[in-house]
Amino acid sequence: MKLSLSLPGGSYDILIERGALSRAGAVFSLCRRVMIVTDNGVPPQYAQTLAAQCKAPYIVTVPQGEKSKNLATLETVLHRLLDAGFDRGDCVAAVGGGMVGDLAGLAASLYMRGIDFYNVPTTVLAQVDSSVGGKTAVDLGGMKNVVGSFYQPRGVLIDPDVLTSLPPRQVSAGLAEAVKIALTCDPGLFALLESQAPEAHWEEILSGALRCKAAVVEQDEKEQGLRRILNFGHTIGHAIESCEGLQGLLHGECVALGMLPMCSEPVRRRLQAVLTKLSLPVRCRIRPDDLLRAVLHDKKMRGGIVTVTTVREIGRWEMQEIAPQELLPLLGVIAEGGEQL
Ligand SMILES: NC(=O)c1ccc[n+]([C@@H]2O[C@H](COP(=O)([O-])OP(=O)(O)OC[C@H]3O[C@@H](n4cnc5c(N)ncnc54)[C@H](O)[C@@H]3O)[C@@H](O)[C@H]2O)c1
Repeated sequence: MKLSLSLPGGSYDILIERGALSRAGAVFSLCRRVMIVTDNGVPPQYAQTLAAQCKAPYIVTVPQGEKSKNLATLETVLHRLLDAGFDRGDCVAAVGGGMVGDLAGLAASLYMRGIDFYNVPTTVLAQVDSSVGGKTAVDLGGMKNVVGSFYQPRGVLIDPDVLTSLPPRQVSAGLAEAVKIALTCDPGLFALLESQAPEAHWEEILSGALRCKAAVVEQDEKEQGLRRILNFGHTIGHAIESCEGLQGLLHGECVALGMLPMCSEPVRRRLQAVLTKLSLPVRCRIRPDDLLRAVLHDKKMRGGIVTVTTVREIGRWEMQEIAPQELLPLLGVIAEGGEQL
């Protein structure tokens, strides 16, 4: 299955196919120097399989985890490019999750003012969402994604077979982003997630979610408006992440929780059921007033107003500006022992 994303600066293909990693050479232009960026939590055979198809491969393996998404690691990658004599005709390829993709994409966008970038995502989150759309970044001063660029890849290769080595909790967390897209844009995909085991339907889930994402990005590449829909569940999700701290819930688990208060009651009932089916949380131990305080620190606050996306009907969304106090009763629905609205 091949999708394509068309933008004024050019278009690129997204190939979704089991076993595609071993055929990357037929899809990407690899007869040149290729810096393959991966991390030490990604099984090394994935980067090696790609390297075996490159004329001049170099592998740089960074430590796994969000803590590597910083300027120091970015500098390490840029130095490796320089030391290996990369020029403007060479390229960078990410083999890993969203962390590696964001880091490698930023390095490619900066080195010699931009060299080609390919993305081979290996987590559900990266396959279903982050590898497409051209957002690259590293964190700075404890703030996520503050230093970054919009830099589209030349191609994205998605091989669902690599997901077999991913821990189940990571699989579930990534699926939260698929639920997010389905809930806001695609009732058919939502019904599929409700009724089927994801492992038996990777290609349909990934292509369904990415088709929606590509359509949004084509209309709003630089997040001037519509693309904010992709942040559904993230205002409260980020607040939960900041309350939980680094040892707490995974990003996707926070997004799962963050979506629940922003839905109408009938939608919330279906959402709770699908999240439970996918082993995602529907309650957390954070008190609503602590959560509200964290929301108030969120970057989307403007003049005491929070812009939130709400879903009254599956596949349809609305953006609303509300006073933070209006959020408080809604936050109760995800608080342990809290009231159901
Ligand atoms: N650019 C975007 O549009 C966008 C969108 C959403 C999230 N993100 C970013 O994505 C990052 C999170 O991505 P993530 O959830 O993929 O996390 P991640 O990249 O940190 O990967 C999670 C863990 O899985 C391991 N792993 C990766 N592939 C594996 C495999 N196939 N088998 C076994 N283990 C594997 C990694 O080593 C890591 O320990 C965050 O930094 C977030 O900001 C970016």
